[in-house]
Amino acid sequence: MSEPEVERYVTELFAPEDAVLAAVRASHRESDLPGIHISPQEGKIIHVLLRAIGARRVLEVGTLGGYSAIWIVRALPADGTLITIEASEKHAAVALDAFESAGVSDRVELIRSKALDTMRALTGPFDAIFLDADKAPLPRYYAEAMRLLRVGGLLLCDNTFLDGRITRASDMSSDVQGMREFNRLAATDARLTAAVVPVRDGLMVAVKVTD
Ligand SMILES: C[S@@+](CC[C@H](N)C(=O)[O-])C[C@H]1O[C@@H](n2cnc3c(N)ncnc32)[C@H](O)[C@@H]1O
Repeated sequence: MSEPEVERYVTELFAPEDAVLAAVRASHRESDLPGIHISPQEGKIIHVLLRAIGARRVLEVGTLGGYSAIWIVRALPADGTLITIEASEKHAAVALDAFESAGVSDRVELIRSKALDTMRALTGPFDAIFLDADKAPLPRYYAEAMRLLRVGGLLLCDNTFLDGRITRASDMSSDVQGMREFNRLAATDARLTAAVVPVRDGLMVAVKVTD
């Protein structure tokens, strides 16, 4: 089987979308949102990891139209909650509709604001934090995430590879530099044990092992 065939096979078997998730993706297209949400496979990987640690309180940075948030909140117990941060009013409006249609509005708090200021004002502990917004400030998001995360909690970050730009030495743009420094921190910080799942554009997964 070729790679796309294998990927389709895995998605159809392990990460099939129900009608709600498919409709949420369709609403992204209808509202002209960029197609930069996670893939169903990533959604299922995140879902499995959250279930594995019994996550109840999760923070997401970068909501877009709510696609990943729905994968996340579905992994939580009935009293579990997700806080998700989104700077764009337009994206947030689409996400709020998505949360209504998924029946999860009562368990998701969407904060319409810039990520860093919001993270700085939050109080932990969180069981898991998913970073999926702008990449240049990732080292600063890292510092806040480590403050907010409980021991045994998960730190997740999308787009590790930045479409291959991460290893292009000549690419010194701010997003690439932010991601490189974030990856270095996650890989070398003794408080974490981390790995990269080579799904789509790369998903960094880490457990905080000590304070
Ligand atoms: C890759 S998309 C998120 C995709 C979403 N997690 C999903 O998979 O469905 C990144 C989002 O982060 C938002 N964003 C970018 N910079 C931000 C910032 N500094 N603070 C808050 N949101 C930001 C963008 O508006 C965009 O909606």
